Amino acid sequence: MPKIAIITDDPGWHGKQLSLAFAARGYQAVYCSLTECSLHVCGPGTPIRMPGFETALPDAVFVRGVPGGSLEEVVFYLDVLHGLKTLGIPVYNDARAIELSVDKGMTSFRLQHAGLPTAPTWVLRDREAALRTARQQLDAGHYLISKPLFGSQGEGIRRIEKSTDLMWLTSSNGIYYLQRFVVCKGQGFSDIRVFVINGRAVAAMRRRGISWLNNVARGASCEAMALDDELAVLAVRATAALQMDYAGVDIIQDAQGRYVLIEVNSVPAWKGLQSVCSVEIAAALVNDLLDRYIGPPC
Ligand SMILES: Nc1ncnc2c1ncn2[C@@H]1O[C@H](COP(=O)(O)OP(=O)(O)O)[C@@H](O)[C@H]1O
Ligand SMILES: [Mg+2]
Repeated sequence: MPKIAIITDDPGWHGKQLSLAFAARGYQAVYCSLTECSLHVCGPGTPIRMPGFETALPDAVFVRGVPGGSLEEVVFYLDVLHGLKTLGIPVYNDARAIELSVDKGMTSFRLQHAGLPTAPTWVLRDREAALRTARQQLDAGHYLISKPLFGSQGEGIRRIEKSTDLMWLTSSNGIYYLQRFVVCKGQGFSDIRVFVINGRAVAAMRRRGISWLNNVARGASCEAMALDDELAVLAVRATAALQMDYAGVDIIQDAQGRYVLIEVNSVPAWKGLQSVCSVEIAAALVNDLLDRYIGPPC
């Protein structure tokens, strides 16, 4: 039976959903942590070792999680994913897409460069420059958001509302990522998550946060939402700008009704979205990976 590696340290609900979808297509999925992989650059034999794939490397790799760690550890994990692709093994999303999107500074840069609407953002090394920028924004009447460069699920995100908040402005390992706060349209707080697969927006939901932080992991509730063309095109273009096979795109509709891109996730969760949409997301992902990179079922 052909084998797929699902790269994860914590398979959980998503791992199970993917395994079932792969099984439905006749593939065995094996969970594999990047922490247990290694490179062997020494003569004959496979140059990448992965637990569960001792006799043959996988037919394809589905990346569900890249662990954090030191710069060396993260570079090594990406080396393994780059290496697998170099060996001709499909990696979904590949290391390049993950590199571009795991770094919020590069995500913002690429979105802006592609001519897509995103919130004004500054990525700075110098604390004085960060403080100056923040003061200018506050003076101009804007709140600011400070985010860790490598973050997810709303972790470490702060809102700066007044000059006294600047006292605790901290960098994330030496880098300040500051973004103008986008005031959302309507009552309360909400943003939009659009799921894109192979250049098509397949589902969307509105996330309503208990505060301005609208991550499901922070208690936001999920509501079904119909996709309009503008939203779909924007999410698809953002996904293309980050070179991803599939993505979870975060968008805020601002007080004037304009859509503003916030983030493009290359390893998005879809449990919340699945609870409010009819598209079977795991099956759609698995079918896209197999059909485009391995070939349709015989
Ligand atoms: N510039 C912003 N203006 C308003 N809200 C924001 C802004 N940036 C982030 N948020 C809120 O914080 C949440 C998390 O931010 P995001 O950049 O998506 O990081 P994470 O990777 O932690 O999800 C967003 O879903 C949104 O609700
Ligand atoms: Mg997000």
